Amino acid sequence: MELPKIGLGTWMLKPKEATYSVIEAIKMGYRFIDTAQAYMNEQGVGEGLREVLDTGIVKREEIFIATKVHPIRVRPKNAYKSTLKSAIKLKLDYIDLIQIHWPAFALGYSHEKTLGELSKLVDEGIVKHIGISNFTSKQTKEAAEACDKPLFSNQVEHHPYLQQKELLEMMKKSGLHFISYSPLGRGKALGDAIISEIAKKNEISTAQVCLAWIMSKGAYPIPKATSLDHIKDNFAAKDVVLPEEDLKKIDGITTVERYVHPPVVAPKEWKK
Ligand SMILES: NC(=O)c1ccc[n+]([C@@H]2O[C@H](COP(=O)([O-])OP(=O)(O)OC[C@H]3O[C@@H](n4cnc5c(N)ncnc54)[C@H](OP(=O)(O)O)[C@@H]3O)[C@@H](O)[C@H]2O)c1
Repeated sequence: MELPKIGLGTWMLKPKEATYSVIEAIKMGYRFIDTAQAYMNEQGVGEGLREVLDTGIVKREEIFIATKVHPIRVRPKNAYKSTLKSAIKLKLDYIDLIQIHWPAFALGYSHEKTLGELSKLVDEGIVKHIGISNFTSKQTKEAAEACDKPLFSNQVEHHPYLQQKELLEMMKKSGLHFISYSPLGRGKALGDAIISEIAKKNEISTAQVCLAWIMSKGAYPIPKATSLDHIKDNFAAKDVVLPEEDLKKIDGITTVERYVHPPVVAPKEWKK
């Protein structure tokens, strides 16, 4: 299936919250859920998925489920085994997208060997697509060359305060899906004066302004939301088309902030 335009992020959701958010989001029309081994909620996401699948709210082939290999499990054999465990926790016969969470070379990640193990999972039908996350342009190119299956995506922080212009351009040329995490700048971009002015003018929420701007770049945002109102508000952004002049105003925002920058695993090129 094609990657849906907008997904539901689940970082920081406790297992029970994840179950609730997944069920409500899918009932509302979301078809793309993003989780990770590191979020410790795959089991909760799996409970939600079981509920919507067993009750016939959606069919398996209508939803796109993505998870990520924990940075401490990026050694080749561990990446393989932990992905099998993720499928069990998610209660799925197959995972649509497995992503390498961080380019954790210091913890044993190898483009050739780790992606090679994930490639076996594609051959075995456990995984549909292989992706990466938090890879720089250079690392993305290297991973795409090393992987014997077409690399599907790179998931990176992307919002009006971190516009990722060069990476977007490079990935567009390479035909890779650009998945935008923390698309609301972890909530911080919602108070921006330019974003607020555009929201007011177009009579939409500030979250919808951020998400519509991201989608206008051909990227796929995965906002996280706990409350039903927020989950609904974000999903409605998929139908918002901002006027060109407003998109340009957001392109011109000069504040630059990176909110996700863990030690050890984050690329050295990411200066604070
Ligand atoms: N690959 C990676 O390394 C990585 C890193 C970070 C994040 N991610 C993924 O990206 C997802 C989203 O990123 P994020 O959680 O960092 O930040 P985010 O989606 O940019 O922002 C989430 C915050 O915005 C609030 N919010 C959501 N929708 C809102 C709305 N319509 N109006 C007002 N406030 C709203 C949420 O509040 P409530 O929860 O109260 O609704 C929460 O406080 C994560 O859940 C995860 O799946 C991936």
